[in-house]
Amino acid sequence: MKTSINGISVNYRDEGRGIPVILIHAFPMNQAMWDDQVLALAPICRIITMDLRGFGASDIPLGPYWMALMASDVRGLMARLGIERAILVGLSMGGYVAMSFYRNFSQAVSGLVLADTRAAADSAEGRERRFASAGKAERDGVESIVEEMVQVLLSQPTINTRRDVVTRVRAIALENQGEGLAAAQRGMADRPDSTEMLAGADCPALVIVGADDRLSPPEEARSWQERMPNSRLAIIPGAGHLSNIEQPDHFNRLIADFISMLQS
Ligand code: MLT
Repeated sequence: MKTSINGISVNYRDEGRGIPVILIHAFPMNQAMWDDQVLALAPICRIITMDLRGFGASDIPLGPYWMALMASDVRGLMARLGIERAILVGLSMGGYVAMSFYRNFSQAVSGLVLADTRAAADSAEGRERRFASAGKAERDGVESIVEEMVQVLLSQPTINTRRDVVTRVRAIALENQGEGLAAAQRGMADRPDSTEMLAGADCPALVIVGADDRLSPPEEARSWQERMPNSRLAIIPGAGHLSNIEQPDHFNRLIADFISMLQS
C-alpha cells in the first residue's frame, strides 16, 4: 500500500491485529526482508513494515537521509495509521532509525528491539568508506556494491551452503536504486553516537545479534546492551548480520516472547 508522508510516497504493509509492532529494515534491503516475520507474527500482533525513503517502492527524494528524517517518516506513518505507541524492531540501519526515533519520540515507544546494530557513530575511516560506497552506487548503480555487501551481510556457512538465502538477499538488494542507497549511506555517516542515550533509556528492550555477525559483532552489542537498564541480550547461533533472514524461526520466537512479556 502507498501513502504520502512528509511530502513523499511511502510503500508499507499493515497486517494482523493487536499490539502494534513496526519492523524497520536494514541497508541495502527493503521491507521484503521482513516477509518471514510478517507471516509468523501477524497472527499475534499488528505488524507494520515500510520501505524507508529511497528504498523499494517508496520515493527516492534528494538526500542525505538522516536517521532523524527516516524516524520522522516512521512517526508520520504511525500517525496516518492511528497508532499512538508501538514496539519498534530495527535491524542494523533500521536500528539506527529506531534509536533516533527513541531519542525524539520516546513516549511513542512501548518496547525497543535492536537487532544486529551499533550504538556507536562511525569512525573517520568508516565515514570515508561510506562516502566512497555512496559515490560508487550513484555512479555505477546498485549492482556495483551488492556483491561485496552480500559477502559481509551473511555468515560464511550461509554463503557456502544456502544458495536460496544468498539469492534472496541479492534479489532484495537489487530492487533498490543507487541514488537511494547513496543518500542513506550519507545519512548513516552523520548519525550521532547513541551509547549514552541508550544507557538512559528505560523502556523494555531486547538486543539481538547473530553469533557470526561481522558488521556488528556480539561482543560490541553486549558492551552497550549491558548499560541499558531494562534490556536483555539474545545471541542467535548460525546467523550473521541478517539474523532475521538466516534464522527466521529463532528470530520470530524472540519477538513473540518479547511481545508476550510486554502484554503480561
Ligand atoms: C545495515 O545492514 O543496515 C548496514 O550494515 C548498516 C551500516 O552500514 O552501518
